[in-house]
Amino acid sequence: DTLDPTSLRTPIVAVLGHVDHGKTSLLDKIRGSAVIEGEAGAITQHIGATAVPLDVISTIAGDLVDPDDFDLPGLLFIDTPGHHSFTTLRSRGGALADIAILVVDVNDGFQPQTLEALDILKRSQTPFIVAANKIDTVPGWNANEDSPINATYDAQSDRVTGRLDESLYEIIGNLSDEGFSADLYWRVQNFQRNVGVVPVSAMTGEGVPDLLAVMMGLSQRYMKAEMEIDVAGPGVGTVLEVKEEKGFGTTIDTVLYDGTVRADDEIVIGGQNDPIVTEVRALLQPRPLAEIRTESRFEKVEEVSAAAGIKVAAPDLEDAMAGAPVRVVRDRDLEEVVREVEAELADIAVDTEEQGVVVKADTLGSLEAMADALDEAEVPIVRAEVGDVAPRDVSVASTAEEPKQRVILGFNVDVLGDADRRAEIDDVTLFTDEVIYQLIEEYEEFVEELER
Ligand code: GTP
Ligand code: MG
Repeated sequence: DTLDPTSLRTPIVAVLGHVDHGKTSLLDKIRGSAVIEGEAGAITQHIGATAVPLDVISTIAGDLVDPDDFDLPGLLFIDTPGHHSFTTLRSRGGALADIAILVVDVNDGFQPQTLEALDILKRSQTPFIVAANKIDTVPGWNANEDSPINATYDAQSDRVTGRLDESLYEIIGNLSDEGFSADLYWRVQNFQRNVGVVPVSAMTGEGVPDLLAVMMGLSQRYMKAEMEIDVAGPGVGTVLEVKEEKGFGTTIDTVLYDGTVRADDEIVIGGQNDPIVTEVRALLQPRPLAEIRTESRFEKVEEVSAAAGIKVAAPDLEDAMAGAPVRVVRDRDLEEVVREVEAELADIAVDTEEQGVVVKADTLGSLEAMADALDEAEVPIVRAEVGDVAPRDVSVASTAEEPKQRVILGFNVDVLGDADRRAEIDDVTLFTDEVIYQLIEEYEEFVEELER
């Protein structure tokens, strides 16, 4: 009942939202439901992602998803920790994710990272739906485990549905304030023009069938063209994270969105200086849960095909950057692949001026988002780099002529060694934050103070 897997890849779904709003719980719930349905083996845990095949989705979603209506193989969910920037989710085409779920706690409503996520979805024009999570916490809620939303709605008292509706309309209002026309998902006809809001509980599973059905429908209807890839071709992906791993040295957690990567491939990766040319030493996936007590948390695989999350161990990865491209060379000309990686990096390169502020960010994507936001605020940039704030950044900032430019803006980065002390001595002001617009607001307040 599935089509030739060499032609359609799994859509990549980013799960975004403010800290503690329930992103991980939602994925845990989907995995848990599959275990109960005896489908656990069918779900595979990737590095940083969970692959849920179509037949599992249809088992969980029941009447809401008929597998005969779809020819996509399933969905690959990428969980993004709230404190970490999801701006790594970029690719050659702009957005790495094909679609997204923005998780919003119905009690807590819109929070700084909700707004940040929305901003990124807007910039990258990623279609998304909103999961209005934790509906089970509405006072008086009568839980109906794993039920579709309409059935459990009907089982609540008017007072309870009234309370829930109030919260949902507040979320719809907030979306409208941000320029998105939104409505409860069953009232949405065109998911490209309107954002659908799906009430769910990651705790009780209520609304999860609806969420999966809407995501499947969205990908099938609007995304199919981008899913048609040459699965056997040389792999293309994005670095999500650069990580030290005991026994493997520096590794890159990568989301592969095109082609295949093999355990003996030569690869090219975007680095701090030049593209890194290296050979895969090992491709690593998490070990199945049952074996978690064995020595290594990982198991080696010979080959993976898009879409997948994979850890790549290879020599010379120290300079790899989160958000940078990864490309398999295979039987292509190495120089050509290097040029492709350079071109992709040049695309992201930030325009700098003779005079301006120093910007540091954790990933290429966040650096790009920072540069966009500073451009809008008409703040010139003298230097923009991925990485922690180091003493040499202080040296650069200290050469600024104007006091308002003796500044380093760090997004999601640490301040290294004695950079702090050096900044104080050199009269350079450091700003760090985990939310871009807050970082820029802090800077603007500082400039206002100076000019008072
Ligand atoms: P970060 O990864 O830190 O950004 O958080 P997260 O968005 O992944 O949230 P997580 O899934 O870790 O959930 C945070 C807390 O909310 C946990 O204590 C969950 O048990 C709780 N929680 C999540 N979803 C629900 C829900 O639907 N109902 C209730 N009652 N609690 C929930
Ligand atoms: Mg989480």
